[in-house]
Amino acid sequence: MKKIIVTIDGWSSCGKSTIAKQMAKALGYVYIDSGAMYRAITLYFLRHHIDWTTEPEIIEALDKIHLSFRHNDHSGQSEIYLNGENVEYLIRELVVAEKVSEVAAVATVRKFAVEQQQKMGIEKGIVMDGRDIGTTVFPEAELKLFMTADIETRVVRRFIEMHAKNPNVTKEEVRANLQMRDHIDSNREVSPLRMAEDAVLLDNTNLTMEDQLDLSLKLVAKKL
Ligand code: DC
Repeated sequence: MKKIIVTIDGWSSCGKSTIAKQMAKALGYVYIDSGAMYRAITLYFLRHHIDWTTEPEIIEALDKIHLSFRHNDHSGQSEIYLNGENVEYLIRELVVAEKVSEVAAVATVRKFAVEQQQKMGIEKGIVMDGRDIGTTVFPEAELKLFMTADIETRVVRRFIEMHAKNPNVTKEEVRANLQMRDHIDSNREVSPLRMAEDAVLLDNTNLTMEDQLDLSLKLVAKKL
């Protein structure tokens, strides 16, 4: 059976990973969260006090970083490991979220991550979400989705998610973090967030998850 590459790009907290996971499950494809890779690198840099404005320091640090995804049979999800340690939950904390866009804007960091992402797609049958997947990582992907939703919807969604883990977090902090990341992600020099010319725009502000999945799977079916 023919397998394709599905890329899902878009703004922070648009529900990219939710739809990507659902699509991968429905299709029997592998789901890769490329943002988790930038987050895990950021976590390593923070832990080891790496100055990511200094090229030799970055190169030396990246050389010591090994990233992998492993399936958790219990949760049914794929989780990211940093040098053998499961960091899937640690990387979602605000300390990482506050710095990840800066780290992800560094060309050497992007090259490191993109090379690994491209290898993961060699056999196709993959759904990968991020910011530059349809433009830089897999420009030849068969199906490219670009997700958007209005800012208020995104703030509320992310707030609910973060508040469940940390009751001290405020909506204003969440909003400020989202706006800052959107700004850096779309204005950086290397691979800024852009909708690929051949991507399908999916605004999910007023879509239920079922409608969104249904629509996306119909788009896949057209490509098979
Ligand atoms: O999808 P996310 O929020 O977990 O991504 C975390 C950060 O990583 C986000 O601010 C932008 C960056 N990122 C990127 O630059 N390129 C990707 N392919 C994925 C994420």
